[in-house]
Amino acid sequence: MFESLADQPPDALLALIGLHRADPRPTKLDLGVGVYRDETGVTPIMAAVREAERILLDTRTTKSYLGPEGDPVFVDLLKPIVFGVDPGPRLLGVQTPGGTGALRLGAELIAAARPGARVLIGTPTWPNHAPIFTAAGLTLVPHRFFDVAGQRLDIDALAAALESAGPGDVVLLHGCCHNPTGGDLDRAAWARVAALVRARGILPFVDLAYQGLGEGLDEDAAGVRALFADLGEGLVAYSCDKNFGLYRDRVGALFGLAATPAAAEVMRSNMIALARVNWSMPPDHGAAIVRTVLESATLTSLWRDELLRMGTRVRAVRAALAAADPRLAFLTTQHGMFSTLPIDPARIAALRADHGVYMAGSGRINVAGLQVGDAPAFVAALAAVGWS
Ligand code: LMR
Repeated sequence: MFESLADQPPDALLALIGLHRADPRPTKLDLGVGVYRDETGVTPIMAAVREAERILLDTRTTKSYLGPEGDPVFVDLLKPIVFGVDPGPRLLGVQTPGGTGALRLGAELIAAARPGARVLIGTPTWPNHAPIFTAAGLTLVPHRFFDVAGQRLDIDALAAALESAGPGDVVLLHGCCHNPTGGDLDRAAWARVAALVRARGILPFVDLAYQGLGEGLDEDAAGVRALFADLGEGLVAYSCDKNFGLYRDRVGALFGLAATPAAAEVMRSNMIALARVNWSMPPDHGAAIVRTVLESATLTSLWRDELLRMGTRVRAVRAALAAADPRLAFLTTQHGMFSTLPIDPARIAALRADHGVYMAGSGRINVAGLQVGDAPAFVAALAAVGWS
């Protein structure tokens, strides 16, 4: 049976975790996989999360099954954080294993409704996006979203892609903190996208994995909220992995906005059926932590404060890099954990081999992996490999 299988290369981004770990140099810098680190270089368990875990340990009486939709209270508590005003019974959600689970579930829902549907996808994007949509049998239609050499968004290319699409087509959008470029749509661009999506009858599918790590919880959701304010149908893949620091617990949700409350119930039943054949039921522990935090005003305020500090620290690192090298000034115009440097593969390899600087092969850097004090060393390494 399996002799027909071809060997698969390891995921290039995730492989950086092992490569960095095995590097004995004390001066090594990890700008690879997207995890936040604090000013001591640690990916912390947030104080509100730790307290919620303690509460769960003391009060939980069972770990019996919940069901394929996960914990509906967890989903309901996230709704106002994501959407601001709850649009009512047309909006539904189910819990998923991380944002990736939400993306895959949404992709399969689209494929069930319209096999082979076209998905407009801006490039560059998170390397797992295309494989997820392809694996679900959808058809990718790429367009340029960001010009890395010029460090500019290509809104016109996005608008042209939308103008060429119509009912039955999907557009994948990053809600905030664009991965891998940090290039976010501003208010005017969101309004333009929203108008085109509505006029052309395109289904928007928003990936919102970094809410709060850009400009703030409300600011980072402003685009999604503007888009969904007057929309027939749409999907949001949400992740709590980053903004609650729950990476390995895999905490996410897929939200769907349907044309009518009755259609929302049909959508929900399809999400549940698809979840059942994929993972049967999502893991509960991380979602229970988020629920426990959001059910408590004290823990919610603790979480919000810590998230605010995390976002502030990321912006400080961006500013420090820009101050250390004026050619990096564009970093202060971008948002969230990632930016992509216009740098060639040979220099990326030299940075790793000669200076212990780990970044993705695309030139993506995880700004949140650096300390403010690392800026001079990083800039010196860039200069040493002749980056210009
Ligand atoms: C990243 O982009 O680094 C993260 O989303 C981790 C991942 O799964 O790729």
